[in-house]
Amino acid sequence: MSQPVRIGLIGAGRIGASHAAVLARRVPEAHLTAVVDPRPGAADLIAGPLGARALSSVGDVLADPAIDAVVISAASVAHRDLIVAAATAGKHVFCEKPAGMSLAEIDEARTAAAAAGVVFQVGFNRRFAADFAAAHDLIAGGRIGEVQLIRSLTRDPGTGPADPGAVPQWTIFTQTLIHDFDTLNWLNPGAHAVDVLATADALIAPDHRDRGHLDTAVVVIRYSNGAIATAEASFAAAYGYDVRGEVFGSNGMVTMGEGATTSMRLHDLAGRAAFTARSDTDLLVDSYTGELTEFCRAVTEKRPAAVTGDDAYAAFAIAQACIDSVTTGARAAVTR
Ligand SMILES: NC(=O)c1ccc[n+]([C@@H]2O[C@H](COP(=O)([O-])OP(=O)(O)OC[C@H]3O[C@@H](n4cnc5c(N)ncnc54)[C@H](O)[C@@H]3O)[C@@H](O)[C@H]2O)c1
Repeated sequence: MSQPVRIGLIGAGRIGASHAAVLARRVPEAHLTAVVDPRPGAADLIAGPLGARALSSVGDVLADPAIDAVVISAASVAHRDLIVAAATAGKHVFCEKPAGMSLAEIDEARTAAAAAGVVFQVGFNRRFAADFAAAHDLIAGGRIGEVQLIRSLTRDPGTGPADPGAVPQWTIFTQTLIHDFDTLNWLNPGAHAVDVLATADALIAPDHRDRGHLDTAVVVIRYSNGAIATAEASFAAAYGYDVRGEVFGSNGMVTMGEGATTSMRLHDLAGRAAFTARSDTDLLVDSYTGELTEFCRAVTEKRPAAVTGDDAYAAFAIAQACIDSVTTGARAAVTR
């Protein structure tokens, strides 16, 4: 194997801690070199046990010639600036979704990466879950015929946000359903989203409805090949983290996402039960491993990554159309 890709991780929060551990323990193609976060102590907490350096400023990471690439897991509002700065410094970039907070920001990010000639991958990890990947390959190979109906859903575990007032407006589209929008685009190869009709409400925290909080949503998307897709999200699934997909075609159907942590079933007086995952980092750890492995291989093999800035743009274009649709109450066109 060639030399591992030396990585600086930017943003040591919840998903940053998971990505750091995955890079250090599950991806032989990576070497977690440094961790940076402006929050006092956050980088040390993660870097120390994993044998990486904790750095105090992003500038130190970008100026370090012993770092080949960055994994950006900072807050979404910082993504565009971090991508542009890292690419301009010649670092390959993996960035969590969304790659920016608007289509203009994402365009700026992908343009900077292209101009610098660096690998730029966006964190649509669902593509690397074994069941979703297998479904994609069958669909792309024509096994289920013409794609006609597609479904994708995300339900966050638990009872909902502790402080719904602190959730930025439109989060359900730009941060949560963005995964489903990318999944739908990817599971309908060769087609593009044309328009959307979105309905959203505050069913979990109705007291926050008047302030624009939305915690439950359903979106209908029409595609250029005639396929009709639905994406659905909730911030509070009592039974655990729930990610599923389904593609129905002229010759059959594929389904994805079981939610159970293992195939073990408990059979007792109450019936038959499966244990469900309580977090994304638990249920989808193999998909995070897969996407970070793909990033390192793309860097080493000097080729584009499997998920690009164009994919980030296409998914956000659906999120933006959802915002337009909820605002007007009408169907909204998806920008290309
Ligand atoms: N792909 C997925 O399944 C998935 C899951 C969770 C979160 N995410 C994404 O990951 C990102 C982080 O989410 P989180 O849940 O870990 O949030 P978090 O709030 O737990 O952590 C964010 C961290 O970023 C740091 N930060 C903020 N601005 C920074 C900057 N300019 N430079 C460096 N660090 C900075 C904060 O101090 C904080 O430690 C978000 O963009 C989110 O959308 C993706």
